[in-house]
Amino acid sequence: MNLPNSVRIVEVGPRDGLQNEKGEFISTEVKVELINSLADAGLTHIEAASFVSPKWVPQMADATEVMSGIERKKGVTYSALTPNLIGLEGAISGRANEIAVFSAASEAFTEKNINCSISESLERFKPVMSAAEKAGIPVRGYVSTVIGCPYAGDIDPEAVAKVAEAMYKMGCYEISLGDTVGVGTPLKVKRMLAAVSALVPKERLAVHFHDTYGQALANIYAALEEGIAVIDSSVAGLGGCPYAKGASGNVATEDVVYLLEGLGISSGINLDALVRTSHWITEKLDKKNNSKVALAMGANRSQLEK
Ligand code: HMG
Ligand code: MG
Repeated sequence: MNLPNSVRIVEVGPRDGLQNEKGEFISTEVKVELINSLADAGLTHIEAASFVSPKWVPQMADATEVMSGIERKKGVTYSALTPNLIGLEGAISGRANEIAVFSAASEAFTEKNINCSISESLERFKPVMSAAEKAGIPVRGYVSTVIGCPYAGDIDPEAVAKVAEAMYKMGCYEISLGDTVGVGTPLKVKRMLAAVSALVPKERLAVHFHDTYGQALANIYAALEEGIAVIDSSVAGLGGCPYAKGASGNVATEDVVYLLEGLGISSGINLDALVRTSHWITEKLDKKNNSKVALAMGANRSQLEK
């Protein structure tokens, strides 16, 4: 089998996982503790915050406080989402090690999500890219709705490839391909990856699957077969996008780590410690745990106690 030997997991729980939480504001203290314990579990890349408009995404309003409250573990990248220059300024003063800009393959989704067209979004990123370069901050690029869109339906793989290429050429060191609504299946994922990798090297691609239809692990396996070695996931499968109604959380990090362990692929993550974090955060948020692995291992929780 032609699978990668190791995989880098980008933990998006503190951002993608929490941004859509309705109801009470999640305290800065809980966010900080979540990020610190994810780093302790061996995650080396944690999307810690989002410097977006607090009117649009209220749960991320304390991005500055979160970034200043976390411990900085050596070897860990603490990244933040930045849609524009205001966001970048916040990320720089919050000492983010990396930022991410985000667009989509669907015009309708881009309008709902960031209030502009795809080409306007790319224009908006240009000054962000050059300011980030000046500040020595690497930039990741997200392309959302790579398989389907809640407003426009099926998405043409060529449309995904076009936006991914534009972001790559603009200077994003990595392009994360998001199945925002979680409608993908392995064959569609492979077709999309074939179109994108014709324009962007595979080593520069990551996959970001939401698990609405329960296909995320199958899609990840399909992506691994295609040589993709960077996977976004969220502890306890937390999350959803505020502008993709009905979309459920990201694939659970615990489930991805279990899959990788079974395939003999290293990720550097301590699954027991991660499962402890998973139970802790779902209890704090009073939420159902969406990780099958955390639930299965939770049945033996006494073995997991520190
Ligand atoms: P806009 O209203 O068009 O922006 O929003 P504007 O430039 O006209 O500014 C309006 C107001 O927002 C002004 O304040 C600005 O100062 C303020 P006012 O004068 O009204 O008091 N503002 C900001 N405040 C804080 N931080 C900022 C910022 N920018 C402007 N960075 C904007 C445009 C992009 C800001 C808005 O649409 C926005 O914040 N959208 C957030 C969208 C979002 O966070 N979506 C979820 C993340 S993406 C995602 O989940 C997908 C992903 O996971 C991959 C996948 O699953 O596919 C990544
Ligand atoms: Mg997402």
